Amino acid sequence: MTDVPLPACFTDAADARDAQPLHLVDRASLAAWRDAQPAVVAGWVKAQGFDASPGTVMTLADGQGGIAGAVVGIGDPLDPASYGHVPMSLPPGTWSVGGDLQDDQRQALQLGWGLGAYRFDRYKKPPRLPARLAIDAGDTAALDALAACVRVRDLVNTPTEHMGPDQLEQVACEIAQRHGARINVVGGDDLLEKNFPAIHAVGRASHRAPRLISLAWGDEGHPHVAIVGKGVCFDTGGLDLKPADGMRWMKKDMGGAAHAIALAEWIMARRLPLRITLLVPAVENAVGPDAFRPGDVIDTRQGLSIEIDNTDAEGRVVLCDALTYAGELQPAMIVDFATLTGAARIALGPELPALYCNDDALAQQWLDAGASQRDPVWRMPLWRPYLRYLTSNIADLANGGPSKMAGSISAALYLERFVPAGMPWAHLDVFSWNDAERPGHPFGGEAQGLRSAFAMLGERFGA
Ligand code: BES
Ligand code: ZN
Ligand code: ZN
Repeated sequence: MTDVPLPACFTDAADARDAQPLHLVDRASLAAWRDAQPAVVAGWVKAQGFDASPGTVMTLADGQGGIAGAVVGIGDPLDPASYGHVPMSLPPGTWSVGGDLQDDQRQALQLGWGLGAYRFDRYKKPPRLPARLAIDAGDTAALDALAACVRVRDLVNTPTEHMGPDQLEQVACEIAQRHGARINVVGGDDLLEKNFPAIHAVGRASHRAPRLISLAWGDEGHPHVAIVGKGVCFDTGGLDLKPADGMRWMKKDMGGAAHAIALAEWIMARRLPLRITLLVPAVENAVGPDAFRPGDVIDTRQGLSIEIDNTDAEGRVVLCDALTYAGELQPAMIVDFATLTGAARIALGPELPALYCNDDALAQQWLDAGASQRDPVWRMPLWRPYLRYLTSNIADLANGGPSKMAGSISAALYLERFVPAGMPWAHLDVFSWNDAERPGHPFGGEAQGLRSAFAMLGERFGA
């Protein structure tokens, strides 16, 4: 984060005196901008039919076969996505935006540039280098946000073979070491001994041992926030096996863990005046002779018995033990991230994470941060009567039921049963994925509601 070298799509402005000028223009300001240009530039821009609509770029000729600069069409100047198309549309080289941008626009530009330049290049060389933006090297706010989003994307994009429970643990260990945090891992049969039976039940069929990864950081005197993330490194559905198209992208089922890890890392890098406990139940929901079955009744740390209606509703089962443990620590609040339901995507589509919250003020803070950061979340109701969808004849609760109604709400209600009454809790049912490329949003893993969560915590705890 703050101490790492600049990403390759940026250059320190001090070393970039040869940078080409880049003009940011929206539709409303196009005419005025054009009129202020030399006649030959204004004529060229007109002749090209450049209208500054969002997502456009046009290079300016220098009259000698070279480039004199470029103009970029943008929409909302404070939305990082407005700049996402630029680094891969401009010719490689270094570019510099003249004039004084306001802090928030400059940060949006830098973040959008970095997000638009991102390619997951672990296994294949990207087809081209991004254009580079000249920035003031001391200006790190956007770079921290970018590093957190890149952390999520990289973790999610990495295939399960290289990002199983073990590797997730390693990542958490490295981060803990870098920031002086304490790490503790309860794995394999120790999960039974230490009373995390639900995490064990879901993960026991895999040859890669299930575990609960916890990281603790911060001063005792600071408000304590528990951050929990669903770390299902692959979701086959278990014995209720997913069909091929439903399983295809399930390497991303640790997207919640990726968000939780990235948020914790960002808080530590920025040294927010918080005490945090990061909890990641990391498992593979695998098929095997030891797999938990539909109809089994399993124990939970809380003591509630759970009838397994469907082994594909595994996220709530691992999360419930982690949430119970989080509650035991008596934090000031709990936030969890989880790729919990397909139903949340049916309700809100791929771009809007579903926010469930038992505290109106907290929910409003996250919604407001979503709007100001252009990183939206959408509040959904904890409609308690729908708990009837999770009734079991033989256990305290079921992890699903015959009804196809309100799948995202009932999953959230299940989780709520494991949060102590009166403890502020926010749950984000997040896709963590771009299923089609959009400017600034390459296909694949994505951070959603992460920047707004960071801003919300800052707002809530006066950081
Ligand atoms: N990991 C999935 C949810 C998911 C699927 C998220 C696709 C994003 C995209 C989760 O474990 C799951 O399979 N949930 C089931 C629950 C059902 C069996 C009650 C679902 O949502 O269909
Ligand atoms: Zn599942
Ligand atoms: Zn899942």
